[in-house]
Amino acid sequence: MTTERAFPPRVTAAERVAVEAGFENSCLPEVGRLLGLAAAAKPNGVVAESGTGSGVGTAWLRSGLGAGARLVTVERDEDLARRAAGVFADDDRVDVLTGDWRLLEQYAPFDVFFCDGGGKRDDPERVVELLAPGGLLILDDFTPSPHWPPRFGGKVDELRLFYLTHPALNATEVLTTPLAATIVAARRL
Ligand SMILES: C[S@@+](CC[C@H](N)C(=O)[O-])C[C@H]1O[C@@H](n2cnc3c(N)ncnc32)[C@H](O)[C@@H]1O
Repeated sequence: MTTERAFPPRVTAAERVAVEAGFENSCLPEVGRLLGLAAAAKPNGVVAESGTGSGVGTAWLRSGLGAGARLVTVERDEDLARRAAGVFADDDRVDVLTGDWRLLEQYAPFDVFFCDGGGKRDDPERVVELLAPGGLLILDDFTPSPHWPPRFGGKVDELRLFYLTHPALNATEVLTTPLAATIVAARRL
Protein backbone atom coordinates (compact mmCIF):
# COMPACT_ATOMS: atom_id res chain seq x y z
CA MET A 1 0.00 0.00 0.00
CA THR A 2 1.36 3.44 -0.90
CA THR A 3 1.16 6.34 1.56
CA GLU A 4 1.98 9.07 -0.96
CA ARG A 5 -0.55 10.92 -3.04
CA ALA A 6 0.16 10.44 -6.72
CA PHE A 7 1.42 13.31 -8.86
CA PRO A 8 -0.23 14.23 -12.15
CA PRO A 9 1.72 12.32 -14.86
CA ARG A 10 2.94 15.52 -16.51
CA VAL A 11 4.44 16.71 -13.24
CA THR A 12 6.38 13.46 -13.09
CA ALA A 13 7.50 14.00 -16.69
CA ALA A 14 8.67 17.55 -15.96
CA GLU A 15 10.52 16.35 -12.86
CA ARG A 16 12.30 13.80 -15.03
CA VAL A 17 13.29 16.61 -17.39
CA ALA A 18 14.63 18.57 -14.39
CA VAL A 19 16.85 15.65 -13.42
CA GLU A 20 18.08 15.25 -17.02
CA ALA A 21 18.85 18.98 -17.23
CA GLY A 22 20.39 19.20 -13.75
CA PHE A 23 17.77 21.80 -12.79
CA GLU A 24 17.17 22.00 -9.04
CA ASN A 25 14.81 24.95 -8.61
CA SER A 26 11.43 23.41 -9.36
CA CYS A 27 8.53 24.29 -7.09
CA LEU A 28 7.61 22.08 -4.17
CA PRO A 29 4.68 19.68 -4.58
CA GLU A 30 2.86 21.61 -1.83
CA VAL A 31 3.12 24.77 -3.96
CA GLY A 32 2.16 22.74 -7.00
CA ARG A 33 -1.14 21.68 -5.42
CA LEU A 34 -1.87 25.36 -4.80
CA LEU A 35 -1.07 26.16 -8.43
CA GLY A 36 -3.50 23.50 -9.65
CA LEU A 37 -6.16 24.87 -7.33
CA ALA A 38 -5.66 28.43 -8.59
CA ALA A 39 -5.89 27.37 -12.24
CA ALA A 40 -9.04 25.37 -11.51
CA ALA A 41 -10.64 28.48 -9.97
CA LYS A 42 -10.43 30.26 -13.36
CA PRO A 43 -11.76 27.67 -15.83
CA ASN A 44 -11.82 30.10 -18.79
CA GLY A 45 -8.89 32.17 -17.66
CA VAL A 46 -5.49 33.23 -18.85
CA VAL A 47 -2.94 31.48 -16.63
CA ALA A 48 0.64 32.76 -16.74
CA GLU A 49 3.96 31.74 -15.27
CA SER A 50 7.26 33.59 -15.35
CA GLY A 51 10.23 31.25 -15.12
CA THR A 52 9.26 27.87 -16.56
CA GLY A 53 12.34 25.99 -15.40
CA SER A 54 11.85 22.42 -16.57
CA GLY A 55 8.05 22.75 -16.52
CA VAL A 56 7.17 21.38 -13.07
CA GLY A 57 5.17 24.44 -11.99
CA THR A 58 3.66 24.59 -15.47
CA ALA A 59 2.54 20.97 -15.16
CA TRP A 60 0.92 21.68 -11.80
CA LEU A 61 -0.88 24.70 -13.27
CA ARG A 62 -1.98 22.54 -16.15
CA SER A 63 -3.38 19.95 -13.75
CA GLY A 64 -6.16 22.43 -12.91
CA LEU A 65 -6.51 24.04 -16.32
CA GLY A 66 -10.05 24.26 -17.66
CA ALA A 67 -10.99 23.31 -21.21
CA GLY A 68 -11.55 27.00 -22.01
CA ALA A 69 -8.41 28.28 -20.35
CA ARG A 70 -4.94 28.87 -21.72
CA LEU A 71 -1.58 28.66 -20.05
CA VAL A 72 1.45 30.65 -21.10
CA THR A 73 4.88 30.37 -19.49
CA VAL A 74 8.23 31.93 -20.28
CA GLU A 75 11.81 30.85 -19.65
CA ARG A 76 14.93 32.78 -20.62
CA ASP A 77 17.20 29.74 -20.62
CA GLU A 78 16.80 28.37 -24.16
CA ASP A 79 17.75 24.81 -23.34
CA LEU A 80 15.32 24.60 -20.42
CA ALA A 81 12.54 26.23 -22.44
CA ARG A 82 13.02 23.71 -25.25
CA ARG A 83 13.02 20.76 -22.85
CA ALA A 84 9.94 22.05 -20.99
CA ALA A 85 8.09 22.70 -24.26
CA GLY A 86 8.46 19.01 -25.04
CA VAL A 87 6.40 18.11 -21.97
CA PHE A 88 3.43 20.08 -23.32
CA ALA A 89 3.88 19.56 -27.06
CA ASP A 90 0.55 17.74 -27.38
CA ASP A 91 -1.54 20.37 -25.59
CA ASP A 92 -2.47 23.43 -27.65
CA ARG A 93 -3.76 25.23 -24.55
CA VAL A 94 -0.15 25.53 -23.32
CA ASP A 95 2.50 27.86 -24.80
CA VAL A 96 6.10 27.79 -23.65
CA LEU A 97 7.89 30.98 -24.69
CA THR A 98 11.63 31.52 -24.78
CA GLY A 99 12.96 34.87 -23.61
CA ASP A 100 12.47 37.52 -20.98
CA TRP A 101 9.42 37.44 -18.71
CA ARG A 102 8.10 40.64 -20.33
CA LEU A 103 7.09 38.54 -23.33
CA LEU A 104 4.13 37.56 -21.15
CA GLU A 105 2.69 41.07 -21.28
CA GLN A 106 1.04 40.49 -24.65
CA TYR A 107 -1.20 37.85 -23.00
CA ALA A 108 -2.26 40.04 -20.04
CA PRO A 109 -4.45 40.56 -18.09
CA PHE A 110 -3.85 37.35 -16.16
CA ASP A 111 -6.46 35.46 -14.17
CA VAL A 112 -3.68 33.49 -12.50
CA PHE A 113 -0.05 34.57 -12.37
CA PHE A 114 2.63 32.35 -10.85
CA CYS A 115 5.45 34.85 -10.85
CA ASP A 116 8.53 32.73 -10.31
CA GLY A 117 11.32 34.05 -12.53
CA GLY A 118 11.42 37.65 -13.69
CA GLY A 119 9.13 40.37 -12.39
CA LYS A 120 8.80 39.23 -8.80
CA ARG A 121 11.83 41.20 -7.60
CA ASP A 122 12.75 43.46 -10.52
CA ASP A 123 9.34 45.02 -11.28
CA PRO A 124 6.75 44.12 -8.63
CA GLU A 125 4.47 47.03 -9.51
CA ARG A 126 4.20 45.77 -13.09
CA VAL A 127 3.42 42.28 -11.78
CA VAL A 128 0.37 43.67 -9.98
CA GLU A 129 -0.69 45.71 -13.03
CA LEU A 130 -0.75 42.60 -15.20
CA LEU A 131 -3.44 40.94 -13.09
CA ALA A 132 -7.06 40.95 -14.18
CA PRO A 133 -9.64 42.12 -11.65
CA GLY A 134 -10.05 39.12 -9.34
CA GLY A 135 -6.85 37.66 -10.73
CA LEU A 136 -4.78 35.46 -8.43
CA LEU A 137 -1.09 36.03 -7.82
CA ILE A 138 1.14 33.31 -6.38
CA LEU A 139 4.72 33.92 -5.22
CA ASP A 140 6.63 31.12 -3.51
CA ASP A 141 10.05 30.68 -1.95
CA PHE A 142 9.65 32.88 1.11
CA THR A 143 11.03 31.95 4.52
CA PRO A 144 8.34 31.91 7.21
CA SER A 145 8.59 34.85 9.59
CA PRO A 146 6.71 35.14 12.89
CA HIS A 147 7.17 38.95 12.86
CA TRP A 148 5.17 41.83 11.51
CA PRO A 149 6.42 43.37 9.36
CA PRO A 150 7.95 40.11 8.07
CA ARG A 151 11.70 39.83 8.44
CA PHE A 152 14.35 37.92 6.54
CA GLY A 153 18.09 37.84 7.28
CA GLY A 154 17.66 40.18 10.25
CA LYS A 155 15.93 42.92 8.23
CA VAL A 156 12.40 43.83 7.23
CA ASP A 157 11.54 41.91 4.07
CA GLU A 158 10.53 44.87 1.93
CA LEU A 159 9.56 42.78 -1.09
CA ARG A 160 7.17 40.61 0.91
CA LEU A 161 5.79 43.72 2.60
CA PHE A 162 5.18 45.31 -0.81
CA TYR A 163 2.92 42.47 -1.95
CA LEU A 164 1.22 41.89 1.40
CA THR A 165 0.23 45.55 1.80
CA HIS A 166 -0.33 46.60 -1.83
CA PRO A 167 -3.59 48.62 -2.01
CA ALA A 168 -4.74 46.80 -5.17
CA LEU A 169 -4.35 43.36 -3.58
CA ASN A 170 -5.96 41.23 -0.91
CA ALA A 171 -2.91 39.21 0.05
CA THR A 172 -1.87 36.68 2.62
CA GLU A 173 0.97 34.33 3.30
CA VAL A 174 0.43 30.59 3.69
CA LEU A 175 2.84 28.00 4.98
CA THR A 176 3.21 25.43 2.24
CA THR A 177 5.59 23.45 4.48
CA PRO A 178 6.83 24.31 7.97
CA LEU A 179 9.89 25.87 6.31
CA ALA A 180 8.40 27.52 3.23
CA ALA A 181 5.88 30.31 2.78
CA THR A 182 3.93 31.39 -0.29
CA ILE A 183 2.11 34.66 -0.90
CA VAL A 184 -1.36 34.30 -2.37
CA ALA A 185 -3.13 37.46 -3.48
CA ALA A 186 -6.23 38.50 -5.41
CA ARG A 187 -6.43 41.74 -7.34
CA ARG A 188 -9.33 43.92 -6.24
CA LEU A 189 -11.90 44.84 -8.87
C1 LIG B 1 12.54 29.15 -9.52
S1 LIG B 1 12.93 28.73 -11.17
C2 LIG B 1 11.38 28.32 -11.89
C3 LIG B 1 10.75 27.07 -11.40
C4 LIG B 1 9.43 26.74 -12.05
N1 LIG B 1 8.54 27.87 -12.09
C5 LIG B 1 8.75 25.63 -11.29
O1 LIG B 1 7.84 25.92 -10.51
O2 LIG B 1 9.13 24.47 -11.46
C6 LIG B 1 13.20 30.31 -11.92
C7 LIG B 1 13.39 30.26 -13.42
O3 LIG B 1 13.21 31.58 -13.90
C8 LIG B 1 14.08 31.81 -14.97
N2 LIG B 1 14.21 33.26 -15.09
C9 LIG B 1 14.85 34.10 -14.25
N3 LIG B 1 14.73 35.38 -14.66
C10 LIG B 1 13.98 35.36 -15.78
C11 LIG B 1 13.49 36.37 -16.66
N4 LIG B 1 13.79 37.65 -16.47
N5 LIG B 1 12.73 35.99 -17.71
C12 LIG B 1 12.45 34.67 -17.93
N6 LIG B 1 12.88 33.67 -17.12
C13 LIG B 1 13.63 34.01 -16.06
C14 LIG B 1 15.33 31.07 -14.57
O4 LIG B 1 16.13 30.76 -15.70
C15 LIG B 1 14.78 29.85 -13.86
O5 LIG B 1 14.68 28.76 -14.75
